[in-house]
Formats: sequence, structure tokens, C-alpha cells
Amino acid sequence: MDVPIFNYVNQYLASDPTRLHMPGHKGCGPLDCEDRDLTEIPGADSLYEADGVIAASERNASGLFACPTFYSTEGSSHCIRAMLFLAMQHKAVSIRGRRPGAYTEADEASPQKPCGIVPSHSERSEAKPKDPDSPSLRVLAARNVHRTFLSAAALLDLDVRWLWDESPTYLSADPTPASVERAILSERPDALYLTSPDYLGHLVDLGPIADVCHRHGVLLLVDNAHGAYLHFLPEPMHPMDLGADLCCDSAHKTCPVLTGGAWLHVSQRLGLPTAEIRDALALFGSTSPSYLILQSLDLCNPWLEALPGTMPDFLPLIEALKTELRAEGWTLCGDEPWKLTLRPRLRGRSGVELAEILSEHRIWCEFFDSDFVVLMFTPSNLYRDFDRLREALASIPPCPALPETALPAARPEQVCSLREAMLSPCVRVPAVQSLGRVLARPGVSCPPAVPIRMPGERIDEAAIAAFDAYEIQVCDVLP
Ligand SMILES: Cc1ncc(COP(=O)(O)O)c(C=O)c1O
Repeated sequence: MDVPIFNYVNQYLASDPTRLHMPGHKGCGPLDCEDRDLTEIPGADSLYEADGVIAASERNASGLFACPTFYSTEGSSHCIRAMLFLAMQHKAVSIRGRRPGAYTEADEASPQKPCGIVPSHSERSEAKPKDPDSPSLRVLAARNVHRTFLSAAALLDLDVRWLWDESPTYLSADPTPASVERAILSERPDALYLTSPDYLGHLVDLGPIADVCHRHGVLLLVDNAHGAYLHFLPEPMHPMDLGADLCCDSAHKTCPVLTGGAWLHVSQRLGLPTAEIRDALALFGSTSPSYLILQSLDLCNPWLEALPGTMPDFLPLIEALKTELRAEGWTLCGDEPWKLTLRPRLRGRSGVELAEILSEHRIWCEFFDSDFVVLMFTPSNLYRDFDRLREALASIPPCPALPETALPAARPEQVCSLREAMLSPCVRVPAVQSLGRVLARPGVSCPPAVPIRMPGERIDEAAIAAFDAYEIQVCDVLP
């Protein structure tokens, strides 16, 4: 597979250039990679008006993922904002042109409102039929969203409705086709927004949920930040394979791409023109995309092309490790093939304790809290890494199980909208003194950046206990 961005930079470097353009390091510096760091000079293409080497490289990525795919050098966070904006654009165009399939007949029968009138929060808080002519996008979202969803929702003035479920931890959600259908019928959203895989490695059964969404004229948007590789499994499980309309992947989380590299995937079914998709990314992106990250995304294409051939060697390694650990009495959770999530309390250690023991063995986890330790493997790991983890875990004698402290998502009182809360001035108070106050900014620990409570919600006893568990000492509340 050709690597047009990387090749362009090689040619540029071979030409012995005098660099009278940005960046200021002029190709020299202590990192030793500054020479490859360019800007949008002639021949280097331009990310948001791509028609040269970047467009060619994105075409390679689109072929590999089997759907239109666009580059970002600012992470899934950037793509999430663009996805939500594109869903709004899709709705706006549907209102103007009545794109086929955008609404069900039942929606067409609901009362009309002139364009431009956005309902106030009090109007919105009742679940009434959506207004097909309202420009506001109503999004039904599972509670375990990444914090970027909240900032995007506030900036875009989305009408967010939460999809509640009985998951034992607020880090996960457990939507089913039946629960989604019930919520669609009661909330009448324009779009459903799900996170799959979640930080703990749980996968949502997206295929049947996509069918439900499409039957009701609802777009399916998926935060697949952790699951880019799912398309390349022997049986593809990427959200776009399962019917998502819009989806983001953090290329840097599971593929050999520099931090910040991400893919935005857009289903052809939406009929969104390429220029509109690039404009959506430009709306939220820097005008100086990183050429180091672009080259890294470019070079990832041959790696992805080879990935289906790598899987038969790699998958058994991780599967064998999981089987062994279970046999030794460790409890694992999650169904994501490349992630190993331990529930160490069931073997007598808190997640914090286990992470500390692992660090003594020079093993650094992706995430740990009191209940979970999340370890991420990719084919770039060495055999040594598997062995080191095996030895480290074998050195820990089992102890009597500790109770798990998992914090389920609660249903707090919503006092005002996300937008009102997030764009208001706020005051910072000690978390222990915040009982009864209204949260103004997401209450999160990072990672996993999944909010314990949402802006606009009243802080209850359970929230304070969760802040304490995650060592969140202050929170921002409305004055
Ligand atoms: C589920 C999820 N979504 C989105 C993001 C944001 O991704 P990025 O860091 O690529 O912007 C993260 C980051 O950890 C995440 O875990």
C-alpha cells in the first residue's frame, strides 16, 4: 500500500530545502523528529481542503475500513464534536430537503414549529414528540459518555436525554434493543449516542440496536475510541460494520499512531458531501494539524492492511493469557479481545493495590480504580510483556475476597440543562461540602473521564461518595 504523506515528506527532505515557513524549529531540535514536522506548504496538501497526498492517504484508510474515513490529528475528542455537528447538519438538510428515511410517518404527524425557535429547558424536560422542524438535535445518550460529549452538547445546544440502565458501574452501560426502543418511543430522539467499547472493555451489541434505530429514523452515533481494530478481527465487529451512521476511533489508543491521531467514519447512507464533513472537522480543529501525526496515520495504513494476517498469531496469545488467569482464580470482565480487565477485589486486592504491585514489576496499567485494573495489549507488545504480567500476577497470593465498591449510575435531580450549567460562571468548592449544589462542570477523574454526575444535576450523597472514591477533592458548582 502506498504512503503518500510519508513519501511526500521524504521527497521534501531529500530536496535539501531552505525552510522559510513554519514551524519555527526549521527541522532541527532536541527531539530528532523535527525535520519531519511540516506545515501545509504546496505539495503537502491541506487537511480540511484535502485533494492531494492527504486525500490519497484518506482514500487508503477508507478502503481499509470499507467506509468514508477522515483524519484528525486532535483525537476522538475532535471527531466527537464533528460527529454531533454532522448529525445536526443531517437533520437540518433533512428538514429542508426531507432526505428520505430521516423521519418516520409518526414524526411527520407531530405539530410543526417555525425554524429557529429552540425550546427552553423547561419546555424540553417533558418527553414530548420531537418537532421535525426544530433545528435542535435531540440526542439520547447512555450515561457513560466521555466528557467531550458534554462540552460538545453544551456548545451545540443539544437536547440531551439520558438512556438509563441497570449497569452496576457508572463506567459501563448496558443498552439492549428493547431498552433502546422503549427510550426512543418515549424520548423521540433524532440520534442515539453510545460508547462501545467502554473503558472496561465492554462491547454493546450494536447490530440489533442499529436496526431499532433505523426502523425509527434515528441516527446511531458511536464513540469507538477504544475499538479501531475491531474491523480487522476475523469476524469484523467495528461499529461501522454493525450499522453505525457516524463513529470515531482514536487511532493512537490501539494502533501504532502518535497520540492525537484519530479517524472519523461517516456512513454513505447519510449522503453527506465530503466538503461538509471536512467543514465539520475544520469547525472544531486547529488550522495547524500535526504533520507528524498525519504521517503516522499514513503509515498505519499498511499496518492495518496486514492486521488481519497478524490476528491469528496475536489473538491466541491474549486469549491464552486470559484463560490462564481465570484458571488461577483471577476474575476478568469485558468482552473486548485486546483488553484485559481484572476485578482484583474478588482475589483480595483493591485495584489501587494491584496497580502498585504491577508497577513494582515495571508494568504500567492503562487505568485502575478501587475495583478494576485495565490492561491494554496490542500486537506491538513484546512476548516479554505477556510473561512479565504472568509472573507479576503469579507472585500475588490469593486473599479472602473484598466487597466490590462499584458505583452505579444514579438518577439525580436535573435542575437545569447541560448548556446552562456548563456555560455559566461557577464556583469551586470542596467536594465534601457540595451536597445539594448544582454541578456546573463535569465531575470526572481522568482517566476514564466518564462523568460521575452531569452538569446541571444536583449533587447527592451518592455523588459525594463517588467523588471520594475517585479522590475528586473539589468540584465546580453554580453560584
Ligand atoms: C471512550 C472515550 N471516548 C473518547 C475519548 C477521547 O479520545 P482522544 O483522547 O483520542 O481525544 C476517550 C479518551 O480516553 C475515551 O476513553
